[in-house]
Amino acid sequence: MLQPQPTGNIPALSTVTDWGRLVRPAEPFLQSVAARLAEQVREFDPAIAAMARYALTNQGKQLRPALVSLSGGAVGKLAEAHVTVAVIIEMVHLATLVHDDVMDEARMRRQRPTLAVQWGNEVSVLLGDCLFAEAVRLAASFPSPDICRAVGGATKTVCTGEILQTMRRGDFLISRADYFQAVTMKTAELFALSCELGALLAGADENGRRALREYGLALGTAYQVYDDCLDIFGTEAHAGKSLGTDLATGKVTLPVLIARERLAPAERERLLGMLRTWKPEMEPALADLLRQANALAESRAAIGGYLTTARNALAGLPQSESLLGLLGLTAFLGQQVEALGAE
Ligand code: IPE
Ligand code: IPE
Ligand code: MG
Ligand code: MG
Repeated sequence: MLQPQPTGNIPALSTVTDWGRLVRPAEPFLQSVAARLAEQVREFDPAIAAMARYALTNQGKQLRPALVSLSGGAVGKLAEAHVTVAVIIEMVHLATLVHDDVMDEARMRRQRPTLAVQWGNEVSVLLGDCLFAEAVRLAASFPSPDICRAVGGATKTVCTGEILQTMRRGDFLISRADYFQAVTMKTAELFALSCELGALLAGADENGRRALREYGLALGTAYQVYDDCLDIFGTEAHAGKSLGTDLATGKVTLPVLIARERLAPAERERLLGMLRTWKPEMEPALADLLRQANALAESRAAIGGYLTTARNALAGLPQSESLLGLLGLTAFLGQQVEALGAE
């Protein structure tokens, strides 16, 4: 629900409850990114234009483009290159989503059937590859190879994180370190890249770049842990995508890990038994065990810790509307986390 408008167009942190309003300073930028993504359809063979359009023209929250814009604005001036980098990163993100939905057997993404539902798994894997390739091709248009190198490196990290997580499916005894390693690699890395390149293209010095990268890593980690809670405690109508896929594919995420650590031996065995033979009908029994272990509250606290790290990373940056936007993002995510389980 929208809160009363604060003075100017700077969101007051205590009243940031609406995503659209939070990114309003970045709105013209995000519209340019959406338009450029739609133009990218032309770069694909006409025979696959329909599926390229399906992938490129249904915008999600545009979190990573917003980070490019706000990070650039926090340390300098935005240029056309920021839009190009945001388009590149969003295409990498889209490619990972297309592949991820195949692996997770998800049916819904961004309030619509997934590409795999529309065109099948084989074609989806290959379209994901085309999206990666197009992102790299576009990155090669910069005069210096630095952007292309950074995008290639981060993409490799993201895919490696997804591989590690996939190899650990069905291992219900993974450690917190294993869990956070995959989270950092598969999600936080692309957030960090968005912030770092936004800063780099605005001419930030080494300190500014490092601060924004650190912010991105912490925010991205908080975001994936939130998403993992959403997978268990959220609703599909609100999320706009298939949920419950982590349990269905044998992935242990933070709330389950916490329950495994906190429960008494008999309940712990019951939990492990359920995970090994998971069926959606077990949801109420699992919810009971998670409640007993206080798993949602402890997950919220862990997310809160990463959000504090993200805010602290920005301490040395000058006051600006973009800085407030970056801080507002942490407040917004904090509110989303608080709202979990109450939908
Ligand atoms: C989904 O990312 C994948 C995760 C990292 C959890 P987003 O939640 O940013 O997805 P879109 O772009 O808004 O659809
Ligand atoms: C995938 O994590 C993150 C990516 C790198 C694509 P999830 O599997 O939790 O993402 P969702 O929930 O499907 O969006
Ligand atoms: Mg998934
Ligand atoms: Mg998820």
